[in-house]
Amino acid sequence: MKNRIYLNTLHDHIGEEITVAGWVDVRRDHGKLIFMDVRDMTEKVQMVALPNHVEAHELANTVRPEWVIEVTGIVNKRPEKMINEELHNGDIEIEITSIKVLNEADTPAFEISETTIGVNEEARMTNRYLDLRSERMQTNIKNRHRVMKFVRNFFDKEGFFEIETPLLTKSTPEGARDYVVPSRLEPGHFYALPQSPQQYKQLIMSSGFEKYFQFARCMRDEDTRGDRQPEFTQLDMEMSFVDRDQVMDINEKVLIALVKELYPEKTIQEIPFPRLTHKESMEKYGTDRPDLRKDKDDPNLLAFAWVTDFPFFEKTDDGSWTFTHNPFSIPKEEFIDDLLKGENIGDILTSQYDIALNGSEIGGGSIRAHKADILEKVFEILGHDKKKIKEAFGHMIDAFSSGTPPHGGIAWGFDRLMMILQNEPNIREVIAFPKTGEGKDLMMNSPAEIEDVHLKELGIQIKKN
Ligand code: AMO
Repeated sequence: MKNRIYLNTLHDHIGEEITVAGWVDVRRDHGKLIFMDVRDMTEKVQMVALPNHVEAHELANTVRPEWVIEVTGIVNKRPEKMINEELHNGDIEIEITSIKVLNEADTPAFEISETTIGVNEEARMTNRYLDLRSERMQTNIKNRHRVMKFVRNFFDKEGFFEIETPLLTKSTPEGARDYVVPSRLEPGHFYALPQSPQQYKQLIMSSGFEKYFQFARCMRDEDTRGDRQPEFTQLDMEMSFVDRDQVMDINEKVLIALVKELYPEKTIQEIPFPRLTHKESMEKYGTDRPDLRKDKDDPNLLAFAWVTDFPFFEKTDDGSWTFTHNPFSIPKEEFIDDLLKGENIGDILTSQYDIALNGSEIGGGSIRAHKADILEKVFEILGHDKKKIKEAFGHMIDAFSSGTPPHGGIAWGFDRLMMILQNEPNIREVIAFPKTGEGKDLMMNSPAEIEDVHLKELGIQIKKN
C-alpha cells in the first residue's frame, strides 16, 4: 500500500484525495448516510459514505466492526457545529470515494471501541490480539516501549553496555522455585530458566565491563498475583567500583528524568527520594514498602522511597537461617567481622536497598560480596557444606579469586513501574501477553502436553494417575 497515509497526518491533506487503511471501529447507519469510525495504529477518524458514490455506499453497508479495509476518500473540514473538540480528528471527516475490503472479521468476542477493563478476563486473555487493539491497551504497550527506549538511551549516555545473558542456565537462589528445561543431549539433566541475571551480571563485572544494564526476562515458578507474573521483566543493572549511594543516585536520576520527560502530568512528591531504614519503615508504617503519598486519591502523585539496612538473615520455621533478600550481597561494613566469625547472625545488616513507589516494591539491589571468603561464609550460614558450595557456586568463587572488582547494582520490576505510571490495577495490563492467575496462556493454550516421541528423546516418562 504504497501511498497509504496514517490517520494522525490527515490535517496535512485537507481537501485532498488520500488513501488510508485500518480497522472498522464502529458503524452508524443514518439511512442514506453511512458513518463509520476507522482506526489505525495512530488515530481514529470518522468517515462518511454518500449515496452518490454508489459502489462505495453499497460496500459501506456490508462492513462490520473489526473488518480491515482500505479507503480512498477526500479529507473534508467538518461544519462548525459538528466539530468534536475532544478528538484529534474531531474537526475533519473523510468522504469515501472507494472501499477495498482487505479482510473480513467474525463478530468480536467483546467490544473494543471502549476500554476493555470491565470485560471478562478469560475472554480478554483468550483473544488477547483483540484486547490489545483497544485504545487503553495500545497506549499501555506503546508507553512501555517509550519508557524502555528512554531508559536505554539514558544508560547508554552514561556509558553502560546492554549485555544479554543466557536463558538456558543454572538456578540462581532468588527465593522462588525454578522453571526447568530438560536436556536432550544429557538425559536426566536440566537447565534452569533464570530467576534473574544475578550471577551473570556479577560475572560481567568480573569480565571488566564495569557498567552493565539489561532489560532481562526473569522466570519464577511462584503463585501469580496482581503484581507478580511467572515471567516478568527487570531493568537490571550493575556497576563496578561504586558504593551504595552511587547506585541509588544514578537510579534516582533516571527515574526522575523519565517521569519529567514522559509523564509531565505527574508530580514526584519528594526529591531527593526519602530514605528510611528497614527498622524505621517497619516501626512507622508496618511494612518495608511504605506508601508515603500525602494524597492517595491523586492518580498523578508519585511517592518514591528508598528502604535500607535490612537484616541479612532470618530464621526459618525449622530454626535454620535463610537470607531475606540476596545471598550475593555484602553485609554493611561494620558487620563483616561478625559474618566471617559466624557471630550475632541475626543482627547482621546487609547493604541491600529497596525502592518503593506508592506502596509497591519496584526494585531492589545491593553492594555485592566480591571476595570468595565472604560469599562462602554466607552460604555456610545458609547451611551448605563446602562441597555443595563448590558445586553450586564454584564459578563465582573462582571468578572472585581472579580479580573481581567491588561492585553493586539493582533490578527494577519493570512491569510494576509501568503499572503505576499507567495507573493500572495490575501488571497484566502493561504486559502484551501475560499469564493468568493459574500461570496459563489462554490464547496459546500453554502449558500443554508434548508428543510421546519428544518425551522419549528427552528420556522423560510421565506418571499417569
Ligand atoms: P528481586 O528478587 O527483589 O531482586 O527482584 C527485583 C524486582 O523485580 C520485581 N519482581 C517481580 N515483578 C513481577 N513478577 C514477579 N514474579 C516478580 N518478582 C520480583 C520486584 C522486585 O523488586 N537479582 C536481584 C536484583 C539485584 O540485587 O540487583 C533480584 O532479582 O519489583
